[in-house]
Amino acid sequence: MIEFKGLIKKFGNRTVLNGLDLIIREGEIVFILGTSGTGKSVLLKNIVGLMRPDEGEIWIDGEEVSRFSEDQYFSIRKKCGMVFQQPALFDSLTVFENIAFGLRRHFRLSEREVTDRVQLALKLVNIQGVEQKRPTQMSYGMQKRVSLARTIALQPKILLFDEPTTGLDPITTTVINHLIQDLSKQLKSTSIVVSHDMNCALSIADRIVVLDKGQIEAIGTPDELKKSQHPLVRDFLAEVLSL
Ligand SMILES: Nc1ncnc2c1ncn2[C@@H]1O[C@H](COP(=O)(O)OP(=O)(O)OP(=O)(O)O)[C@@H](O)[C@H]1O
Ligand SMILES: [Mg+2]
Repeated sequence: MIEFKGLIKKFGNRTVLNGLDLIIREGEIVFILGTSGTGKSVLLKNIVGLMRPDEGEIWIDGEEVSRFSEDQYFSIRKKCGMVFQQPALFDSLTVFENIAFGLRRHFRLSEREVTDRVQLALKLVNIQGVEQKRPTQMSYGMQKRVSLARTIALQPKILLFDEPTTGLDPITTTVINHLIQDLSKQLKSTSIVVSHDMNCALSIADRIVVLDKGQIEAIGTPDELKKSQHPLVRDFLAEVLSL
């Protein structure tokens, strides 16, 4: 479904992604773990075309997209929904309008259908009755959930989550993690989740990728990673295993 071949991304003389090769299969939930600044967000931004690689290829659903024009990328963004690390909502729009925005842009829907999809998305992230609020009137955690709702309302085939639960309370974190799992089943979507939450990765990921300095240091199923002797993997596991 998604394939990276020799992906290189540099900023000035700093190489952030350093020849990354990875294949993500249809319907998989892949977690990407790695220390801060190792290129996780940059990787997701390259998939949705917000950044372009310097070298290498990105294949999505059978198409090599890395050199697509902005117009060609429009169709990719419809398949590929990204939940950003920061909520990135439009402050001047209500919650309803924030979620409806992408729906109106990408689909021909009646107002009734738009309303239904907005309400369903809000229900899925476990918040209701906030349609007329503005993002600035809401807490960070609420804004994060609205930004999740905005993406899942589009029902994309590919879901990219950049730290969806960082900064949220444990109860909401559990809700969101189950939601990621449910969505991938219901929408049969392929998901990439950037996260620091090894616990969650072990419980819902099909495969876990550990990135370091723009390269894959370890990759495998949760069971395979639990047995890994790689020092970085052990570091990530230490927190979970000591619980
Ligand atoms: N637009 C940009 N211009 C220049 N450098 C950038 C840009 N975006 C990211 N970088 C650099 O690329 C590196 C990787 O950044 P990235 O945001 O992908 O890290 P990350 O793995 O997502 O970290 P975190 O866990 O803190 O979110 C960092 O050193 C960052 O400073
Ligand atoms: Mg990041």
